[in-house]
Amino acid sequence: MTLFKFLISSIAISSRAILAQAKVTQDDFTGIGHILVLNSSDYRTASPKQIVGCLDDSGQIMQEKSLDDCGTFARLNEYPYTLSSKAGNCSFNDKNTAANTDSYYGKNDHAWSCNATYIANIYDELYTITGFNYPFLCWGDIACYYDAKTIPSHSDDKIALWQYRWGSMQMDITPGHVMLQLMWNKTGDLPKREDVDVAPGPRMELKGESQAVLLQGQQVSS
Ligand SMILES: *[C@@H]1O[C@H](CO)[C@@H](O)[C@H](O)[C@H]1NC(C)=O
Ligand SMILES: *[C@@H]1O[C@H](CO)[C@@H](O)[C@H](O)[C@H]1NC(C)=O
Ligand SMILES: *[C@@H]1O[C@H](CO)[C@@H](O)[C@H](O)[C@H]1NC(C)=O
Ligand SMILES: *[C@@H]1O[C@H](CO)[C@@H](O)[C@H](O)[C@H]1NC(C)=O
Repeated sequence: MTLFKFLISSIAISSRAILAQAKVTQDDFTGIGHILVLNSSDYRTASPKQIVGCLDDSGQIMQEKSLDDCGTFARLNEYPYTLSSKAGNCSFNDKNTAANTDSYYGKNDHAWSCNATYIANIYDELYTITGFNYPFLCWGDIACYYDAKTIPSHSDDKIALWQYRWGSMQMDITPGHVMLQLMWNKTGDLPKREDVDVAPGPRMELKGESQAVLLQGQQVSS
């Protein structure tokens, strides 16, 4: 999947289009912050009006009554640039979390979680894309959408967050599930260091509709 990112990157850099005001830069997804959950199936029109929750420290979706109740995440400013909360390093890799059994392609996917004993690697990295209107978080092969059974409707609901996958046998979100996006809400910086690396997002920038097709999520070939 990293390979795919780099392939995209090498074709995407051409003329610098008229980037309208205050588009996302890589610096917008750094430091410490909350992860907001949007009910959205289109990054082009998604906005904070669609916030339906946030992620808690364990990585599950909860209602967002006040940002203070949401989980607090930190993004490493060095390799592998992954997220952690006070519960530990976050990934889709913990086989103890719920699997997306309703999904044709996601049956073996496990929910995102933050785990005290997990050592994160570069495949766990979430990243944003320069040119987005807001700092939406993508994963893997430019997969910028996520899948959940439902949206939290009670204050004690904790809902599993999965990757969104589609393909010829399931062209859209898992039937009955909701398609989501994640958005970084930066609240602070990490303690300053001398030698800060630039986090490797995909080296692509959005320059209009032509790239929309690249951002439809993870198509699974079958
Ligand atoms: C999520 O968005 C869809 C499409 O806009 C809408 O039909 C649905 O009611 C929304 N669900 C919630 C719980 O906001
Ligand atoms: C963390 O992951 C390990 C290994 O998969 C597992 O044994 C443990 O139960 C997990 N801890 C939590 C809090 O989920
Ligand atoms: C979390 O992952 C980072 C990056 O791999 C690693 O340096 C750190 O030791 C991990 N933390 C724990 C508690 O395993
Ligand atoms: C993001 O966090 C700031 C506080 O740092 C807050 O003022 C702002 O409203 C938050 N944005 C959203 C969309 O919730």
